Amino acid sequence: MDNTSQILERSAELFAGKRLLLVNPPADGLTGELPADWHVWTWDYSVQQGLSSRLDQQHLSFSHLCPQVDGLDAAILVMPKAIERAEYALAQMAPLLKSGCPLYLVGEKKGGVTRAEKLLAPYGSAIEKLDSARHCQLWRSIAHDQIAAFQLADWQRSIRLEFPDQAVDLISLPGVFSHGRLDEGSQLLLEEMAPLPSGKVLDFGCGAGVLATVLARRNPGARFELVDIDALALYCATQTLSQNEVQAQVYPSNGLSDVHGRFAAVVSNPPFHTGIRHDTSIAEQFFNEVTRNLLPGGELRIVANGFLKYPPLIEAHIGKCRVLRENNRFKVYSAVAPG
Ligand SMILES: C[S@@+](CC[C@H](N)C(=O)[O-])C[C@H]1O[C@@H](n2cnc3c(N)ncnc32)[C@H](O)[C@@H]1O
Repeated sequence: MDNTSQILERSAELFAGKRLLLVNPPADGLTGELPADWHVWTWDYSVQQGLSSRLDQQHLSFSHLCPQVDGLDAAILVMPKAIERAEYALAQMAPLLKSGCPLYLVGEKKGGVTRAEKLLAPYGSAIEKLDSARHCQLWRSIAHDQIAAFQLADWQRSIRLEFPDQAVDLISLPGVFSHGRLDEGSQLLLEEMAPLPSGKVLDFGCGAGVLATVLARRNPGARFELVDIDALALYCATQTLSQNEVQAQVYPSNGLSDVHGRFAAVVSNPPFHTGIRHDTSIAEQFFNEVTRNLLPGGELRIVANGFLKYPPLIEAHIGKCRVLRENNRFKVYSAVAPG
């Protein structure tokens, strides 16, 4: 089990037999090992897939919004990577708790849980650290009454992006890449005006949907499908498309797990860079698998940090890799599958 689940299990007496909301857990066996009436909210499709054999639909929710579970005894947030995602989740969890019920925060010390006091302060009092083990901490606060109801509109941001040929209204939520601005890599990819082939085009790791929105308008013969692992990204992409009057299909996928059929093109600012400079294993797996989703003559067009050694991997799996654009940080690559 994950370290965060182990520290929760060490305090099993706080949770056993209770009606609990568990938010952003890893896909491990905690809900099976610790007997309670678990209601899980995840925005990570891989966790949804991992837990769906243990929890039915009433107890497992994959969404950008927290399920409205009543009669809760307590709620637990597993600290997300992005602090603003923690704030977004807590703002939805706290109003579900009656005054006096505990709200817990658990997470790795290096993952920001040390900010627990600040994060929990708006929603409760008597904030205390209950345990510290396995590089993790478990914090508790006791819910106040009269916590303001959650309003999605307070968290949603809309920005207008101006391109030489069009303006796009981009909708985003906390922790959705790249919240409230256009990423420099995505911008470089969109500076490339070479047309995309007509037919189905996949926007892999769509985030708030900026690539598909701009490219769909430029390429009227393209029918876009957008996938992402993050429920908040999928919601934002759907909103961005509709704000900009672009028709496309949006659905969750972990990598290419739920992508079926072959595409005339796949475009992406892919998520493979973990910060470990030389780790290209996730990228390689993607270049290998995407060949199954490209039509003969289909194009893969991606942007990546220039230092990442993608061209030999792209050539090994797809075909000759051309640099369409570059600046001092990013490169836009294009490769065409054998015809
Ligand atoms: C670098 S961002 C690009 C977002 C958007 N296309 C843009 O250009 O602004 C990569 C995206 O990939 C998503 N992602 C990460 N891992 C994924 C996976 N295993 N399967 C699908 N999408 C994933 C992230 O949620 C994120 O939205």
